[in-house]
Amino acid sequence: ATEPLVLGIETSCDETGIGIVRGRTLLSNTIASSMDEHARYGGVVPEVAARAHLEALQPAIEAAVAEAGIGLDDLDAVAVTSGPGLAGALMVGVGAAKALAVSLDKPLYAVNHLVGHIAADILAGDEVEYPTVALLVSGGHTSLLLVRDLVSDVELLGETVDDAAGEAFDKIARILGLPYPGGPEIDRAAATGDPTAIRFPRGLSRASDMAEHRYDFSFSGLKTAVARWIEQAEAAGTPIDTADVAASFREAVVDVLVTKALDACDRFGVPRLLLGGGVIANRRLREVALARAAEAGVAVRIPPLSLCTDNGAMIAALAAQLMATGHAPSTLAFGADSTLP
Ligand code: KG4
Ligand code: ZN
Repeated sequence: ATEPLVLGIETSCDETGIGIVRGRTLLSNTIASSMDEHARYGGVVPEVAARAHLEALQPAIEAAVAEAGIGLDDLDAVAVTSGPGLAGALMVGVGAAKALAVSLDKPLYAVNHLVGHIAADILAGDEVEYPTVALLVSGGHTSLLLVRDLVSDVELLGETVDDAAGEAFDKIARILGLPYPGGPEIDRAAATGDPTAIRFPRGLSRASDMAEHRYDFSFSGLKTAVARWIEQAEAAGTPIDTADVAASFREAVVDVLVTKALDACDRFGVPRLLLGGGVIANRRLREVALARAAEAGVAVRIPPLSLCTDNGAMIAALAAQLMATGHAPSTLAFGADSTLP
């Protein structure tokens, strides 16, 4: 039998992602982002994101189908992110997916966004090996997962207790007067800075945090520390070296992300680490992760950035995997679930 042809819809945040896969083969990955509309607010505005999805969906589906060189009738299934994410944004995608599946009379698969991020890796080329530890870092999440089986056994080891890593980058950028989204700006500013210039705190990394928060993250204390450091420098009339502040802040985030991920690899005896999410674009994060993992004997996988950030192809890939392992489609009774575990 030929592998299933699946169209995936992703609308959990600000990216309208439509992806088409045939089994493990990527045919198209169309992404329309409403980021420009959020930039002047300094963060994603849920209502604006939902409206943007509504406008972007139809053209994105048409573009993806054209790029894949298929007709909608050729599809074997439709897949959609049902959560977690922004409620209104998710609802637009779920509604569209139901309408498409019903009108085409095709099965519909509702999938978990975070598991979708891990599934992206099966489109990246080489055969995926499990178990693997997965670190997902974006503007919306900072999650550490232990994946024994993509379909049936994904364990959340920990996640951020406050801001996501990308959000921390965006907030510090704002404090430093850099534009939104701040991640790439900080990365650029940090290039000429000294990462050891200022010792900023590593959240939830004390011995006393290990019992309950070993694999959790916290970035709000770091944000406060950077803000306070800048305030004190200003009060003292000391010139602020933006490059040093950016590099020292970036080092604190990267250090805690990589340390906790490799700790999980060690503790669970899993010598594999998968990285995903938009923050993976960070140059220092890639560099430190690759270097420290090599020392620890851990193999790192970093899918191309277009599959690391939110996209529909990963959602389609996960559904194709569910079909290949004999899972029944969802009934139409499901809805968007913004807090899906
Ligand atoms: O996965 P993503 O594209 O979208 C969602 O979160 O939905 O991630 C976006 C986040 C933003 O917070 C952005 O500032 C951050 O990823 N980011 C970076 C870099 N490029 C993007 N953070 C640090 N360094 C970067 N080079
Ligand atoms: Zn995501």
